[in-house]
Amino acid sequence: MAAFTLAHLSDPHLPPLPVPQVSELLGKRGLGYLNWTRNRRQYHRRDVLDVLVSDMQAQVPSHIAVTGDLVNLALEAEFAPALAWLRAVGPPDRVTAVPGNHDAYVRATRHRFAESFADYLRGDDASDATFPLLRRRGPLLLIGLSTAVPTPAFMATGTLGRAQLEALGQTLSRLAHDDAFRVLLVHHPLRSASMIKRLTDAPELLAVLKRHGVDLVLHGHDHVHSTIWIDGPSGTIPVVGVPSASARAHGHYPAAAYNLFSLARDGAAWRCQQMVRGIDEKLQAREIRRTRLI
Ligand SMILES: [Fe+2]
Ligand SMILES: [Fe+2]
Repeated sequence: MAAFTLAHLSDPHLPPLPVPQVSELLGKRGLGYLNWTRNRRQYHRRDVLDVLVSDMQAQVPSHIAVTGDLVNLALEAEFAPALAWLRAVGPPDRVTAVPGNHDAYVRATRHRFAESFADYLRGDDASDATFPLLRRRGPLLLIGLSTAVPTPAFMATGTLGRAQLEALGQTLSRLAHDDAFRVLLVHHPLRSASMIKRLTDAPELLAVLKRHGVDLVLHGHDHVHSTIWIDGPSGTIPVVGVPSASARAHGHYPAAAYNLFSLARDGAAWRCQQMVRGIDEKLQAREIRRTRLI
């Protein structure tokens, strides 16, 4: 049987940013817009994103995970183009998304992500978008979390909250003897040195994962390649982050890339290989690295 493949991309920050209404620029969005016009629009490029996505689609992944920051300032005018983009990535049964902090940038539109992308967030047994979301696809069990909460200016933190953490613990406990390969999707990384970018209840999430375990954690937010290992109930769990899917290389941020995880049975255990593909300076996609994770 052919291996099941899961593609992971994150943080498209879909460019171009529509011109905001003046009334939308009060408060945090004003600073964000200034940052976009002065910096971010040079680095988040639609041509980069389009090359990356078409390369990913050429690999014909069995499923695609998108871990948040689909939009930038969560302007009303950003959601329709972002939905059109996500539909072009794939249909809702083949693509699972979770929100990032930019998708809930301000209180006024914090509900728009769930409304716009409902079909991509809905769990198999759920009538609406509730987290943790659960989707079974081939040998995978995808578990999606939301860390997206509006924050004050200059803050890009995320928070799960007690209710979601408790629901996650109960869900994982119920799945303790499930044969599936459990993949946790979350926007924020599980460890961060930055007070302004961290997941505020990361210690509580790490405790849930240490107790109940999953097989792989995928995240975005940092816009860099990263792999760390955290404690699980029996051994360690890989936690893998990926650069922004629309980024040109700048500073210490690498150019856009995505990960492709191939999953196969190895006796009673799973074998998971990670292939990293990314964009080079000529805007061509190529394989960067291949590693056996598990
Ligand atoms: Fe981001
Ligand atoms: Fe983010």
